[in-house]
Amino acid sequence: MPEPRYAALLGTGRYLPERVVTNVDLEEILDTSDQWIQERTGIRERRYVADGESGAMMATAAARHALEMAHLRPDDVDLIVLATLSPDVCFPGNGVYIGAELGIPGTPCLDIRQQCTGFIYGLSLAEAYIRSGRYDYVLVIGSEIHSSGIEMAPRGRDVSVLFGDGAGAALLGPTTDVNRALLGTWVHSDGRHAEELWTEGPASRKNPRVAADDVANGSVFPKMNGQKVFKFACRHMVEAVKEAVDAQGVQIADVDFFVFHQANMRIIDFVLKALRIPESKTHCNIDRYGNTTAASIPIALDEAGRAAMIPPGALVCLAAFGSGFTWGSALLRWPTGEGGTQTANEQEGV
Ligand code: ACO
Repeated sequence: MPEPRYAALLGTGRYLPERVVTNVDLEEILDTSDQWIQERTGIRERRYVADGESGAMMATAAARHALEMAHLRPDDVDLIVLATLSPDVCFPGNGVYIGAELGIPGTPCLDIRQQCTGFIYGLSLAEAYIRSGRYDYVLVIGSEIHSSGIEMAPRGRDVSVLFGDGAGAALLGPTTDVNRALLGTWVHSDGRHAEELWTEGPASRKNPRVAADDVANGSVFPKMNGQKVFKFACRHMVEAVKEAVDAQGVQIADVDFFVFHQANMRIIDFVLKALRIPESKTHCNIDRYGNTTAASIPIALDEAGRAAMIPPGALVCLAAFGSGFTWGSALLRWPTGEGGTQTANEQEGV
């Protein structure tokens, strides 16, 4: 019998633009206040790109960071999976630009969306491709630029204060050792709620897809039914974690570390309380970066791993909820550092 083949996390990386935008910076522009934002969301500041920084450029930097940790070269990569709701141009997707910037022409790429759940969906693809033997090394990247798409005026303040720019990446490869494997991914969607958190335009279902008054009428800016999103996020994040542990036949208490999508500190607090997870078992950075949608989990995972917050061999659960609605979870064993893969106590490199 052939040995079982699993996907393993071999490296992580991140890229955050240097430009810091605090709540106070937004107070006048958005008719908001530092106190309102902190109390409702836990966000203190976020990063915005500067001229010359693009989604593909940030994704490439995060990918290089992950490749270095895995001691692999760009030409080892068999597939790039890029999750974003904010591609640099309408088409083609950012995946082709990342391949070009990494210098690996001919390497296939997939651009996926799935918003805040994009990274978990990306992991599910990497898992399937690697387990099936189709590919060995798969880059999964989340990269977002929100700052150029949010409405920087009081009308858009409920959404605009939430989001920030950044990229996170993971490099996955094959293993026969279940004790260092990605154990499973569980993903869901429910499009009945698509318009509770969405950006309508440019819309190909309208002709013309961009009209002269789209900026004035606001259809090109994200809209959100905040309270409904909040309620569904709390419910589905809890269910996503339960689904993962149930599928693996373990208890919540057996999980050593959790990385949640960073949408709102109150959502994370709800999940921690509902599942009786101690705060020490998670890492949050929403105060510093806001919501970076598809990038949020790989950024937090990379920070926690490089800061040695996750012990080698730890059972790690990831969970996300986002626009669509989409939600999902993943369970993995944190790499032990053997065999040329990442050492969990690697010092901060960024
Ligand atoms: N600054 C100041 N006041 C504001 C702001 C702001 N930025 N935004 C809204 N307000 C006002 C409202 O106008 C309202 O005023 P009123 O009472 O005079 O009418 C008041 O604050 C309360 O508004 P609510 O919407 O009831 O505020 P709530 O407590 O629900 O908090 C929030 C809003 C933070 C957006 C919350 O609903 C939330 O976090 N929702 C989920 C957000 C989320 O996770 N989104 C991303 C999902 S991930 C993805 O896939 C993209």
